[in-house]
Amino acid sequence: MLSAEQLGLGRGGQMIVCGIDLRVEAGWALQIHGANGSGKTTLLRVLAGLLPPAVGQVCWHGANVRVHPERFRHDLAFVGHTNGVSDDLTVLENLRFASLLGADARAAQVCGHGGEATRPPEQEVMARAGLLPLRHTHVGLLSQGQRRRVALTRLILERKPLWLLDEPADALDDGALDWFDECLGIHMNEGGIVVTTTHRLLNTPSVLTRHLHLERSCAWLD
Ligand SMILES: Nc1ncnc2c1ncn2[C@@H]1O[C@H](COP(=O)(O)OP(=O)(O)OP(=O)(O)O)[C@@H](O)[C@H]1O
Ligand SMILES: [Mg+2]
Repeated sequence: MLSAEQLGLGRGGQMIVCGIDLRVEAGWALQIHGANGSGKTTLLRVLAGLLPPAVGQVCWHGANVRVHPERFRHDLAFVGHTNGVSDDLTVLENLRFASLLGADARAAQVCGHGGEATRPPEQEVMARAGLLPLRHTHVGLLSQGQRRRVALTRLILERKPLWLLDEPADALDDGALDWFDECLGIHMNEGGIVVTTTHRLLNTPSVLTRHLHLERSCAWLD
C-alpha cells in the first residue's frame, strides 16, 4: 500500500499544495488531475521519492520511502516525461534490458497473451504494443508516440508492483490507448498499483479507481 498523510509540496521555495491525504491499496488506481502548474508532476516525484515533501511523508507498506528506500526502489516503476529509455539502443535492446530486470516465469503472460514458450517475453509484448516492425530501430529515431510505447512496454516487462506514471497517455494514438488501458487493467487485476497524472481520464476499472483533484493550495479526493 502507498500512503501519505497531510503531505505538503513545495517548489522553488514556494508552497504549492498542502493537506494531501492518500492511500492506494493493491489492485487500485489513483488518477491525479489538475490544471497546468497545479503540482501533479511535483506530487508524483514526491511519491516516487525523487523530491522531498515540504511537509509530511510518503510510505510504502508503512515505511517512509526516504528513510527506507530499498524495498520501495525494488517495487517502483516510474515513467516521467523523459520516458527513461536509451536513445542509443534499439527498441529490442531497450526492452531486453527491461525484460532481464523483470524476468520471471510469468513474463510471457503479460497483457493478455499466453505467449509461446519458445519466444522471449519482449517479443510477445512488443507485438501487442505494435513495436515489432520497429524492433531494430534506435529509440532516438522514433516519434514521440513510438517512444512512449517503448517506455510503457518497458514498464510492463519490468513487472514492478507500483507504477507511478506522469501523463502516460501523452502522444498515444487510439490503438495504443486501448492497448495501454488493457495493460493497466491486467496490472491491477494482478494486484498492481497505478498512480497516474493525467489531463484525460484513463480507462482503469472504475470501481477500483480513485481520483485526486489538485488545485494550488488545496486537494480533495472523490
Ligand atoms: N524545478 C522547478 N523549480 C521551481 N519551480 C518549479 C520547478 N518545477 C516546477 N515548478 C513549479 O511548480 C509548480 C507545479 O509544477 P508541476 O510541474 O508539478 O505542475 P503540473 O500540474 O504537473 O503541470 P502540467 O499540467 O503542466 O504538467 C508550477 O508553478 C511550476 O512553475
Ligand atoms: Mg506535469
